[in-house]
Amino acid sequence: MGEKASVAVWKDDKAKMDAFITDLMAKMTLDEKIGQLDLQSGIMANTGSLVNYEYEDWVAEGKVGSIFNNFTYERAYPLQKRAVEESRLGIPIIIGHDIIHGHKTIFPQSLGEVASWDLEVARLGAEIAAKEATADGIMWTFAPMADLVRDPRWGRVSEAPGEDVYLATKMSVARVQGFQGDDLASPTTMAATAKHFVGYGLSQGGRDYHSTDISEHELWTQQMPPFKAMVDAGVATFMTSFNDLNGIPASGSKYLLTDVLRDQWGFEGFVVTDYTAVNELVPHGYARDDKHAAEIAFNAGADMDMVGKSYMDYMAELVEEGKVSMEKIDHSVRLILEMKWRLGLFEDPYRYFDKERADRDILTAENLELARDAARKSAVLLKNDNAALPLALDDINSIALIGPLADNKKDMIGNWAGAGDRRKQPVSLKEGLEARLGDNVTINYAQGATYAHLHAEGDTSPHVGIRSVGRDVIGKPAHAKMIKEAVKAAKKSDVIVLAIGEEQRMSGEAASRVEITLPGTQRELMEELKKLGKPMVGVLFSGRPNDLSWEHQNLDAILHAWYPGTSGGHAISDLLVGDFSPSGKLPMTFPRSVGQIPLYYNMKNTGRPYNAENPNQRQEHYKSRYDDSPNSPLYAFGHGLSYADFQYGEVKLSSDHLKMDGELTVSVDVTNAGKHAGEEVVQLYTRQMVGSVTRPVQELKGFQKVNFAAGETKTITFTLTAEDLSFYRADMSWGAEAGDFQVMVGTASDNVQRLPFKLVD
Ligand code: NOJ
Repeated sequence: MGEKASVAVWKDDKAKMDAFITDLMAKMTLDEKIGQLDLQSGIMANTGSLVNYEYEDWVAEGKVGSIFNNFTYERAYPLQKRAVEESRLGIPIIIGHDIIHGHKTIFPQSLGEVASWDLEVARLGAEIAAKEATADGIMWTFAPMADLVRDPRWGRVSEAPGEDVYLATKMSVARVQGFQGDDLASPTTMAATAKHFVGYGLSQGGRDYHSTDISEHELWTQQMPPFKAMVDAGVATFMTSFNDLNGIPASGSKYLLTDVLRDQWGFEGFVVTDYTAVNELVPHGYARDDKHAAEIAFNAGADMDMVGKSYMDYMAELVEEGKVSMEKIDHSVRLILEMKWRLGLFEDPYRYFDKERADRDILTAENLELARDAARKSAVLLKNDNAALPLALDDINSIALIGPLADNKKDMIGNWAGAGDRRKQPVSLKEGLEARLGDNVTINYAQGATYAHLHAEGDTSPHVGIRSVGRDVIGKPAHAKMIKEAVKAAKKSDVIVLAIGEEQRMSGEAASRVEITLPGTQRELMEELKKLGKPMVGVLFSGRPNDLSWEHQNLDAILHAWYPGTSGGHAISDLLVGDFSPSGKLPMTFPRSVGQIPLYYNMKNTGRPYNAENPNQRQEHYKSRYDDSPNSPLYAFGHGLSYADFQYGEVKLSSDHLKMDGELTVSVDVTNAGKHAGEEVVQLYTRQMVGSVTRPVQELKGFQKVNFAAGETKTITFTLTAEDLSFYRADMSWGAEAGDFQVMVGTASDNVQRLPFKLVD
């Protein structure tokens, strides 16, 4: 390749890498260096409001070092070719994409996958996603998102790891391991991104991109740990977050991007901003103009600018004016070139384009089966009265399958669905049930309702959301006809299975809602069907906790399927007919109403904790409570039922105290007293009764997902040490405090046995 940047053998030779990059950088002009700091979006997906259509030429001119949103061989390969053949130094580009829960074989929506409480499900999902994406030329993903969330109005909860820091940390690390494997250089693994750093998950009012105000203690205890754990796990890159955090937008925060991430945690990869987040320092009121924004963000530690072009346009001037140092430019360029080295791009820029492997590795029967298994393990049985589930196939001749998500492929794969096909590939619930039931049971299908908002003539109601206008809105007559057809189908059937929920684009980015009840005409449909007095089973498809108060009162059973992915219809059918038992547990609290938000299990006790059990409720008047709602959620964190019948024996502790350098063993016998086999997630929580700062009433410290045959008993054992009880104390030092604790073990955060113990010096 002559002058071009290439190396024959690369791999783990750091000295060789350093020498190669030093040599390459010596040849680079300032503009070429700045080019490495720029990331542009292609046009295959639209994940932000700005696209610079000249990006292809910029790649050829060496002005752009990486691209995303061009996720097919046909679109990405020619770009790599232009970078290598046309740019002066032939430096290959990194090709990224939001591979969030699958590339083409789509696994359950991220929040759903977390509901599996199965780290292997998360790891494997990421591993398969990387295997597929890398065969199509993509070597960098913008995942995992590790933002803790407490507000189901926020659409991005669908992409989040839930509300608990322990579970989120474990899941995020498992995903990094899945994407990156042991070796970034392997052609089947990709660079992962820890995002969004940090605080985005607490956007005020659940409105996307809104500000956050998080106390130092809360930030370090709740939001930081998953990110720190991903650094320790070797995550390749970090993404800044959009939000203003305590007065400083995260994308311009030197404290976050340099003091914490580099100096304190020793992160060695590069930092990319979120989409146009540098330019957004201007409307934030933190920078005067784009040039000022570039100066702030870059000096804060944001190495790469996503789409906004402010580095491209102003960095040379900033260097000339002495506002940005050449050392800093060189440092960032080196980090980016190192990633290109580690990905093996200097040896072979096309090593991730492999048509043969794409044919062999993408959408294979094995991947589809793994996705089916993941979907089965992610679904959460929220309610099951009158043994409504599994469907009693011996007694049932006909099922009314009703709802906007029944004969529906496009929503099954959820939002952020990589390169997933929505039209043909996904298995709908109707197809899944038909395949499983064959001719034995008649399925009477009717759509029955729409999940879009009902549009009456002249309706200017704010509830007709922007997205619905002119698209899916239906008129009242069409709506009445739909219900009539559904009632007819239901009358002919032994049981009603409702496929209800939200359209996939009602969660995800820029998809916040002020109401989290089921949208459109679904409630009216259910009210009509309820009058028939037949068993009603709800299968819920959505990317967030919904307000299911009505459904809880009126349906016999509710199975939350999330968006189950490409094999979704099969997976959910497997559960409905009882071939497998549901085993998911909620990673987020489901409130009774939107008015309770934020509602999360690991809250503080307050000075006036309300006791709903007190028979003398007069004594409870001046307590922390609502006049018009219980405090408790509809479904608690960790809740999830099974067809098995798990009975917990007495929880035993090895001692009534734990020494600072010792261990405490917590054990319990769990028996499956039911007729179905099933998996149970045994959960362990603790509470520190008195602390140098107030402590949550419950904190998850361990869980085990265990398989039980019918009738089987197993002893489940956890070991607690002082490290498990450590936290950021009043002086912000990390450690445990001697004193009184409780340990709680059980099947859900609101269904535990409690035992006291002491932590002693
Ligand atoms: C904006 C989102 O916040 C981020 O998560 C995503 O990776 C980028 N857009 C790129 O699509």
